[in-house]
Amino acid sequence: MTTNEPSRTQWLGRWGFVLAATGSAVGLGNIWKFPYMTGEYGGGAFVLVYLVCILSVGVPIMMTEIALGRRGRGSPIDAIRRVVKESGGSSLWSLFGWMAMLCGFLILSFYVVVAGWSFAYLWKMISGGLVGSSVDDMAAIFGANNANPFSLGGWSTLVTVATMVIVGKGVQQGIEKSVGWMMPGMVIMLLIMIVYGMFSGGFGQAVHFLFDFKASSLSSEGMLAAMGHAFFTLSLASGAILTYGSYLPRRASIGRTTLTVAVADTLVALMAGLAIFPVIFANGMEPNSGPGLIFMSLPLAFQAMPMGTLFGILFFIMLSMAALTSSISMVEATVSWLNDNKGISRKAAAWGTGIVLWLMSTLAMLSFNIGADWTLAGKHFFDWLDFLTSRLMMPLGGLGMALLAGFFLKSEAVRDELDLPAGMHALWLFMVRYVSPLGILVIFVDALGIVAV
Ligand code: PFF
Ligand code: NA
Repeated sequence: MTTNEPSRTQWLGRWGFVLAATGSAVGLGNIWKFPYMTGEYGGGAFVLVYLVCILSVGVPIMMTEIALGRRGRGSPIDAIRRVVKESGGSSLWSLFGWMAMLCGFLILSFYVVVAGWSFAYLWKMISGGLVGSSVDDMAAIFGANNANPFSLGGWSTLVTVATMVIVGKGVQQGIEKSVGWMMPGMVIMLLIMIVYGMFSGGFGQAVHFLFDFKASSLSSEGMLAAMGHAFFTLSLASGAILTYGSYLPRRASIGRTTLTVAVADTLVALMAGLAIFPVIFANGMEPNSGPGLIFMSLPLAFQAMPMGTLFGILFFIMLSMAALTSSISMVEATVSWLNDNKGISRKAAAWGTGIVLWLMSTLAMLSFNIGADWTLAGKHFFDWLDFLTSRLMMPLGGLGMALLAGFFLKSEAVRDELDLPAGMHALWLFMVRYVSPLGILVIFVDALGIVAV
């Protein structure tokens, strides 16, 4: 279609979208969450289910989001409203746009806290604050870092400010420029880390842990977690990919671009596993230590190794950059919506969003110290943000967009926008109509506690 090709900004370079979307996808989800989840849910079997979810749910929904964004040329709310209008549907569908925008914002509220850990540990590595620490010391250091709201809040504030500075500079000058050097830099550092892992003595064990399929370790809880993580890791239903898609030039192929991003994200997750687990195993540590895995076990392991401090610094620089290229994507939907609809300049929109975000992240950060007792149903605020977004909002948003594109939009419009070879289109349609919705429903049933897992 050619009628709605307005003057919306577009990515400057040929690789602009791919770099930005990969930057969004590759983040703490790959390097922090994926390894510790794999550790907790038993290794290879979890990895296999996760890969199936990426292919059957993640890829088709990512294509749908990019198509919605590009055809609607706007933030999630506006884009969905325009696309639905073109097909004569109800404007209520744009509620999914509202939810996506809110979801990105809520994720960022706890994401900046974890990103803050990464910056804090980078500083500890540089300043030598971890030298000579034992296992117990490491746990104490992690605890002390969390116990002080000023230090924890300071680091997450730093992440918030950095995010808003980049987003405030705009799509081309801020986002595209920063991902243009951070992404290649990140990949080089990750490759160095893997080579280091290969020589650490635990590489074989790590490969077995990640790739040996043991059906016995496959719990239904692990399967559900794998599905939720597929959404999180690909930045789906949070406004990020849809909004980035709204800047995608018409000539770009949505199918090929999506595959590139999904493959890159998956490779980085597996590579992170191959960089982290050898170090863990080589030092005789357990893989199932949870969210503290890369903050407690890994620095400990680094210490015992030749040039460990250097590689530790490299690792936390890499993690911090991965976090930033993701955090900027989570607010772009909100900033672009404020900018398009409220006549607010991009800079003012970024700082305004930043202030609200800062308040939310402060609440999330307090879960680790003064607010540790402020729990609801056993979860504190930080855990609620994670649970609500990964287990409810993202799957629900994905379901909405899959059904919208699969059943409710005019099929010529969808076909025209996706522009896939006929067989591929049929496959995509089958996925968004039946496979993805079914998979998502399974998560819901669990999250709502209808079935005790
Ligand atoms: N995909 C990011 C990660 O794996 O760390 C997290 C994320 C980014 C989620 C952007 C949602 C989002 F909109
Ligand atoms: Na990811």
